[in-house]
Amino acid sequence: MEKRWTQDNLTSLQSSILAEEQKHPGATGEFTWILSAISLATKAIGNKVRCARIEDVIGEVGETNVQGEMQHKLDVIANEIILRCLGDRENIGVLASEENETPFLLRSREEGGRYAVLFDPLDGSSNVDSSVGVGTIFSVLRLPDGGSREVAMLSPGKDQVAAGYVLYGSSTVLVLTTGNGVDMFVLDQSIGSFVLVTKGIQIPSGNKTYSINEAYTEKFSKEIQQYLEWVHENDYSSRYIGSMVADVHRVLLKGGVFLYPPTKEKPEGKLRLMYEANPMAMVIEQAGGMAVDGSKRILEIEPSGLHERTSVILGSSDQVGAVLQHCS
Ligand code: AHG
Ligand code: MN
Ligand code: MN
Repeated sequence: MEKRWTQDNLTSLQSSILAEEQKHPGATGEFTWILSAISLATKAIGNKVRCARIEDVIGEVGETNVQGEMQHKLDVIANEIILRCLGDRENIGVLASEENETPFLLRSREEGGRYAVLFDPLDGSSNVDSSVGVGTIFSVLRLPDGGSREVAMLSPGKDQVAAGYVLYGSSTVLVLTTGNGVDMFVLDQSIGSFVLVTKGIQIPSGNKTYSINEAYTEKFSKEIQQYLEWVHENDYSSRYIGSMVADVHRVLLKGGVFLYPPTKEKPEGKLRLMYEANPMAMVIEQAGGMAVDGSKRILEIEPSGLHERTSVILGSSDQVGAVLQHCS
């Protein structure tokens, strides 16, 4: 794994993606066009997150969103920024957001709309008031010729052509996979660019750390309760931030396992398949880890709705395996 950049090998997000595209015969650079819009949008969102208290956009809007959850002012702002930055990219046919009940059908295939971008504009937004890391998660699907775009957009995660996230934490980190490994970029504020810091991230094994909201222990299945009893007796440590992007980023870099299993209130799980679980599952698998719903790969789930939820168990293979030993 190459590390760091210096003045004589500075690689930006754009040049890294263009180099990647050159490996694909017939690449048209349209991919770069989409990812550069994601880069622009997330730089703007990061700025809003950092200035939220100064600009008094902290707190809730006072309405619930399509998820039935209280919407935060920054959820709305982040959503509008992404829709604006991505909406004018002429090769995007569909935009679908956690914050909107239905997708935006922008352009047909014939009009050049060849991709669908699905996103969680601000993940972990309930944490933003306390300056805890929050993020943006994105998933890119190619729209097949013909057929309805709404149907085409509901492809299983294994069909994603790109996925990743931006974590607005102590630094603004963009993690991206286009199906050939996982690369990490950090926003260098002094030049306003995401610069490549690590290519080819591999998730470490052997880290006995689990990440789950133990407040729900009584509401989890018997199997998950048995797993929790087992980790308590086997020298594990626990880390849970409550922002999926922050928890998953730590697991990607340090190993361990992140779980959000079904509870009595949410029997299908809380996290959304299309724009939380699928993109994160692609990143984790591309880094050599595992991402399952308790019985099968998350990327194999055939979606039935844009906002459907799923159980999530993801991380290094040894630690996901330890969970499955109690669940099978
Ligand atoms: P969002 O802010 O996009 O609604 O996502 C919040 C999610 C996810 O970020 C996190 O893993 C989970 O909610 C935490 O849920 P609990 O507060 O129930 O632990
Ligand atoms: Mn989320
Ligand atoms: Mn969100």
